[in-house]
Amino acid sequence: APHPLVDRFGRVHTDLRVSLTDRCNLRCTYCMPAEGLDWLPRAEVLGDDEVVRLVRIAVQRLGVRSVRLTGGEPLLRRGLPGLVARLAALGVELSLTTNGIGLARTAVELREAGLDRVNVSLDTLRADRFAALTRRDRIDDVFAGLAAAKAAGLDPVKVNAVPVRGVNEDEIAELASFAVEHGYRMRFIESMPLDAQGSWDRAAMVTADEVLARLGERFELVPVGRSGNAPAEEWRIAGTDTVIGVIASVTRPFCGGCDRVRLTADGQLRNCLFATEESDLRALLRGGADDGRIEEAWRASVAGKGPGHAIGSADFVRPERPMSAIGG
Ligand code: GTP
Ligand code: 5AD
Ligand code: SF4
Repeated sequence: APHPLVDRFGRVHTDLRVSLTDRCNLRCTYCMPAEGLDWLPRAEVLGDDEVVRLVRIAVQRLGVRSVRLTGGEPLLRRGLPGLVARLAALGVELSLTTNGIGLARTAVELREAGLDRVNVSLDTLRADRFAALTRRDRIDDVFAGLAAAKAAGLDPVKVNAVPVRGVNEDEIAELASFAVEHGYRMRFIESMPLDAQGSWDRAAMVTADEVLARLGERFELVPVGRSGNAPAEEWRIAGTDTVIGVIASVTRPFCGGCDRVRLTADGQLRNCLFATEESDLRALLRGGADDGRIEEAWRASVAGKGPGHAIGSADFVRPERPMSAIGG
């Protein structure tokens, strides 16, 4: 077995998030401006061979066991099923986080290629609100994508929602009911200061406690706890099999149990979502470094990982890149 990827706080890193593109086909207001961002030039984005090589090193030399594909919107990546098949062949648990647009078309193919499960973002059930929030009138594509994912056997299907004050906070219980009705898991996420515009405001953030209070008005919640080091704390809705999660990055940080490293679409290794430094694995790859040299750089990056984010304190430094370019 490979020597584990441990940091100086003893946290073992077995989870890798790989961003496949920084582009997106939605423009969620809490994420990016209407005009989009300055996307990475294609030549700077890792090719499939490069992604597969880095993931192979992570699995075979560093003990990574689960890989999540992220974006931007990872379904925009050309040839995704082929890449999924190559990554699945490495023997990792493979999952994908998507906005669901285009999932109806690709769910079966992705499942057959070896994708295990998907998390789909859906912040509202109302077409008009969806159009206002994402600046695209495509809620039906997301509903179709969710249904197709479930039908294809991607299991569990998790729905991610970021409650935004004055926008969709009144839909928290309805989203949970929607999950019960369709057999999805539902998670509510505290918004983090990672939007491209820098407009995050702690007072506007809907907290985990507020989410739980709203859910408590409609349902009886049975605590389930946290599975492993996952960000989500979970409850089951009494009388159902539906599990609801709350990702309280800001009010109940889970950095102490963090088991994640991140690779951006342009091949930069980040030891934290909020890291202020990156390690340039692409330069090593393209400079002809052997696997041992890449392993060493990877271990060095993790060795330099800080204790966690300091959102809300005077020490907090916003990362230079927004969420959509890091992979979330
Ligand atoms: P599961 O494997 O299904 O538990 O996935 P996940 O919840 O880790 O991944 P997903 O991509 O669905 O992310 C949901 C939310 O959790 C997003 O807002 C992520 O940015 C956030 N998230 C994921 N990992 C971390 C992390 O290490 N730190 C923080 N603060 N947030 C995270
Ligand atoms: N804070 C928290 N979650 C965010 N997401 C996008 N931007 C933010 C943010 N600033 C969510 C998306 C998606 C998940 C991957 O991250 O809505 O569900
Ligand atoms: Fe796209 Fe996700 Fe950002 Fe929305 S939150 S614009 S779906 S990257």
